[in-house]
Amino acid sequence: MIPSIILFASGNGSNAITIHQKGIATNSYKVTCIVCNNPKAGILQYAAMHNIPVEMITKKQFSEPAFLQIVQAYHASLLVLAGFLWMVPSYLIQAFENRIINIHPSLLPKYGGEGMYGMHVHEAVVAHKEAESGITIHLVNEEYDKGEVLLQKKVDILPSDAASDVAKKVLALEHQWFWQVVVSQLEKLNDTK
Ligand code: GAR
Repeated sequence: MIPSIILFASGNGSNAITIHQKGIATNSYKVTCIVCNNPKAGILQYAAMHNIPVEMITKKQFSEPAFLQIVQAYHASLLVLAGFLWMVPSYLIQAFENRIINIHPSLLPKYGGEGMYGMHVHEAVVAHKEAESGITIHLVNEEYDKGEVLLQKKVDILPSDAASDVAKKVLALEHQWFWQVVVSQLEKLNDTK
């Protein structure tokens, strides 16, 4: 039986879509649910078209341990944060120790932490005239953006690049690598069972 994952997404959902499609193409995992906190998120339309169950959450529901029962009903091996911006509460981190992964659009520890997400990150990178940026895929622990790093990949930044150019380069890297890290984490979990 192929393993199941739950995707957490609240924005455009391009990473969530790529992960879902790669799971089907490689038959290496199944997306059994998408957890979303934004009724306007682009991923909702995609989920409806592909019959993927969605759990909409409010901040209050997410903060309460009762939500764990909803998550556990999907029997997922891994929780994957693909453009999800809320801090993950302790009860979920404890229940899924080393089984929650996040993607961040910079080379952590640079440009991480609260308030650093999406375009804010790329604007800060350009403002600091960085010569490179990239992606960090990491395990989630109780400190924001500070869990064990699983993979980092870099892109060069040209002096003429605007934040939107950096965003495009970084997003291309995310789509290339995130699903592959999902597969290798699932393989690792299988090895240690
Ligand atoms: C991605 O670039 C992801 O790295 C970033 O949000 C974007 C979501 O794009 N996440 C963070 O900034 C987390 N701190 P998407 O909705 O198109 O996948």
